[in-house]
Amino acid sequence: MPVKTLVAALTFAAAAIAAENQVTFHKDVEPILQKHCQTCHRPGQAAPMSFLTYREARPWAKAMKTAVALRKMPPWFADPQAGHFLNDRSLKAAEIETIAKWADGGAAEGNSKEAPAAVAWPEGWQIQPDIIVPGPTFNVPAGNKNNVVEWVSVTVPSGFTKDTWITSVQIKPEYPAVTHHMCLGFNPHTPDVKYFDPVWQNKARDEEGAAIPGKGPTFGPASPGGRFRSMAEDCYLPGNPAADYRIFDAAKLVPAGSDITLNLHYTPNGAPVTDHVQIGFTVAKEPPRRRYVSMIGSSPQDPEHFAIPPNEGNWQSPPVEVTFNQDVELVFMMPHMHVRGKDMTYTLVYPDGKKEVVLNVPHYDFNWQLGYNTSLKVPKGTKLRVDAHFDNSVNNKFNPNPNRTVYYGEMTWEEMMNPFFGVVVEGDVDPNKILAPRGSVPNGA
Ligand code: HEC
Repeated sequence: MPVKTLVAALTFAAAAIAAENQVTFHKDVEPILQKHCQTCHRPGQAAPMSFLTYREARPWAKAMKTAVALRKMPPWFADPQAGHFLNDRSLKAAEIETIAKWADGGAAEGNSKEAPAAVAWPEGWQIQPDIIVPGPTFNVPAGNKNNVVEWVSVTVPSGFTKDTWITSVQIKPEYPAVTHHMCLGFNPHTPDVKYFDPVWQNKARDEEGAAIPGKGPTFGPASPGGRFRSMAEDCYLPGNPAADYRIFDAAKLVPAGSDITLNLHYTPNGAPVTDHVQIGFTVAKEPPRRRYVSMIGSSPQDPEHFAIPPNEGNWQSPPVEVTFNQDVELVFMMPHMHVRGKDMTYTLVYPDGKKEVVLNVPHYDFNWQLGYNTSLKVPKGTKLRVDAHFDNSVNNKFNPNPNRTVYYGEMTWEEMMNPFFGVVVEGDVDPNKILAPRGSVPNGA
């Protein structure tokens, strides 16, 4: 074969191989977007742009590459080195590489015959609720795109006239497109509560007064009552399924007459809307064999132990430490801090002294209240220790004022160090006895 022909043949073959190996939208990228992105990136959902079609996704190719390489997207903040999560939606290294190659190689469309079948996305209720409780109505302003309205909390009556075992909860906003997330907690009714009255978290964003923290329990079942109302037992998060205790074969008790406090976080998208929130529940007819209990931990709250100095970039909070008084299954963890929260780590210390980090969130992001589902058998006598750091320096772009000491409090300009978690216990257990009485950790009470 003449050299020229040989070269031509080789070039042709190489081109054919290149075409076959070329990363294309339909063959390689679309399946990843379906699995990890479209749950939020489709019309009417939380993300500002849709990735349902090539035409919609193509302009975002470079931004996608950056966002996935930095692990900004999909939102998932657990260090992959620690723990195992049932709802893990993070990308595998190979998937990140695929998106990067696609973006770098010209973001080709490829052959639409190679596209995966479109996903049938659920609309409306994901659970078939036995009870629907009317939630708040909220006027979301037009705002600017990506402009977050400050958190607001609203308390509504549950309407539960008797003790109720709930097996799943779905918070359903009418306009997911402007809903960043919503969380709820159950609280005993107190006479001072004003139903349907929004309490703005930013009423005095620049107020310099330090809150005098309530005493309150620093660890225990959710719903401690009083000023410190629990607001994050269950959440609506874009792209996440409803909180469903049936996957743990369990149910949660909501005492008769409880109030429901919702924490609403909206992201205006240019058009004003009036959102009507509904809360749906499935309920168990019988008391369950396995009981789901939501718990909240807190670091000491008094100013002597909890005071973040000005311009301190890595302040270590006193830890949360607690001992399980009986066997439990640890099924849920959700770090909660405010804008200065930097990292949080949950560690189990087993009775034999073995330590296991079960969740590490090295770059906490206040804007994403993510919960991590797991399934860990925790024997009686095991200790849960939670550590956290706060960044009160100028390097923290969410920090409204690095020049002041920050104390414990519910407002966004104050700080909280709250590891939430959920456990499942067998049989008829008093939730107040799941944890051993507090040990040596100062609680300021
Ligand atoms: C849980 C919902 C959710 C999921 C899942 C999700 N996104 Fe997003 N994404 C958002 C929201 C909300 C925004 C806009 C606000 C922001 O940037 O946080 C966004 C913004 C983006 C941006 C713009 C970032 C920037 O810097 O401006 C890109 C690119 C992106 N997402 C890509 C992806 C890709 C790729 C995936 C899947 C691998 C994905 N997202 C999964 C909710 C989501």
